[in-house]
Formats: sequence, C-alpha cells, structure tokens
Amino acid sequence: MSKAVVVTGAASGIGRAVAEHLAGTGWRVVGLDVDGPALRTVMGALAGGSIAVVGDVALADTHLAAARDAGVCSGWVNCAGVTLATPLDDPDPDVVHRLLAVNQLGTFWGVCAAVRNFLEHGTPGSIVNVSSVHAARSHPGYGAYEMTKAAVEALTRNVAVAYGSRGIRANAVAPGAVATPALVTAPEEHLELLRRQSPLGRLAAPAEIATAVAFLLADEASFVSGEVLTVDGGWSSALMREGTR
Ligand code: NAI
Repeated sequence: MSKAVVVTGAASGIGRAVAEHLAGTGWRVVGLDVDGPALRTVMGALAGGSIAVVGDVALADTHLAAARDAGVCSGWVNCAGVTLATPLDDPDPDVVHRLLAVNQLGTFWGVCAAVRNFLEHGTPGSIVNVSSVHAARSHPGYGAYEMTKAAVEALTRNVAVAYGSRGIRANAVAPGAVATPALVTAPEEHLELLRRQSPLGRLAAPAEIATAVAFLLADEASFVSGEVLTVDGGWSSALMREGTR
C-alpha cells in the first residue's frame, strides 16, 4: 500500500506541483485547499487514489478532517499561503490578519494535525513546511509576510527537536521567486526585476520546488531534520546583483 501525504494549497502553484510530483512517485495524496473547484480538477487528474479536502487552513478542524481522510499518514506538506504586502507605517489590518491566519496559523494547525496522526498510528513521519527567502531577508512592504515565514521556520525547528525521538522529521523549503499563478500576474517590469535577481537569470518553475520538497519528505533525507533548504537559484547568496553581468 502506498504511503499517504497531506498537501495543503494543492489547487495551485507550488502545492499543485508538489501534489503532482508525489502522486507520480507513488504517494497517495490528500490535497487540501480552500478553492474547491480548482482542487477537484487537480486531484481528479492525479494517479493513485488521491482525495480532495476542501477547507480553510486557518482552522484546526480542516486539518483534522484531512488527517482523518488520509488514515495512516507518512508525510505532510504545509504549502498553502498568501503573499501580501502592507507598509508598517500604515498597515491594512485585514491584510495582516489574513497573513497571520493563512501562513502562520495554517502551518501551525497543519503541523499539530500531522504530529498527532503520526503519533496515533505509531508511524515515523516527515513534515515539510513551505517558507520563503523572505524569512531571512527583508523587502520594504513585506514585514508582516516575512514575520509569518520566520515563524514557519521557528516552528519547523521546534517539531524537529520536540518529536525527533518519536521518529518525526521536520524541514522547510525556502523558495525564491517561483512562476506560480500568485506571481505571474505581476507587472512585466517586476517579473524582469525578479529574473535579474537570480544568478540563473530566471524564475523557478513550481516543479523545481516540488523536487526539493519531495527529497526532504522521503527516506533519502532520513537524517535531515530542523533544516531550511533554500531553493532560489543563488539569489540570497549574491552580494550585489546589478553590474555582475
Ligand atoms: P498560489 O496562490 O499559486 O497557491 C496557493 C494555494 O493556497 C491556492 O491554491 C490557494 O487557494 C491556497 N490557499 C490560500 N489560502 C488558503 C486557505 N486559507 N486555506 C486553504 N488553502 C488556501 O501560491 P504559490 O505561489 O504556489 O505559493 C505557495 C506557497 O509558496 C505559499 O506559502 C507562498 O508563501 C510560498 N512561496 C511562494 C513563492 C513564489 O514566488 N510563488 C516564493 C516563496 C514562497
């Protein structure tokens, strides 16, 4: 019987690529997303008894429902998230609350449900949380978003330390700019600026993040825990991008 994995945000972008990659490599995927129609379309095209769970990741019950549907789980990927900007000198409270609800609480409740599922069934499990280069680097307007992603990385380390003795691993992937629906609608000049930031001179494809997630999830990474794997084409290694080409 194939191993089950819950993937949040599976209806679009990185989460969708993760769900597709994992289903294609033998996992039974339980996709969770608030966008029911898009999720059902994505999950319907996957192989291997995939299930769609529609709900808001900000609510603990949504994750518990996904865990119930998954049964014995071996993996959990918290990918659902929103990327929103709001200035610190005039913050929009709705934006701040949404960032905290989806990115931070959404990951927190997902981690709790995953740990509970692994412990209940006495199975070793692997959690991968999707962070961002914004967790460790700052850009004006993104203070609240960056706070949520730094929190995701802190939580990742805590799971690794608190539950490692029970066979549970937790890691995070921190992507740079990825060509997902959330990003590709940005103005062309902004996309061009982002392409120039990466030493590779392009945005990542969602599948390039999915393979990193899949590695951390799998037994190949059996001694990797509490880590953040940056997947940004070298962006955050650069001292100065302009004038280097
Ligand atoms: P996307 O917008 O293409 O996909 C996000 C998915 O999450 C959507 O299907 C959406 O319906 C779902 N979602 C949003 N709020 C939800 C909620 N409350 N409950 C359940 N599902 C919800 O976005 P993308 O770009 O694929 O982002 C995925 C993750 O990757 C996010 O956590 C984002 O912060 C992170 N990320 C994205 C980068 C990029 O350049 N696209 C770069 C770094 C990190």
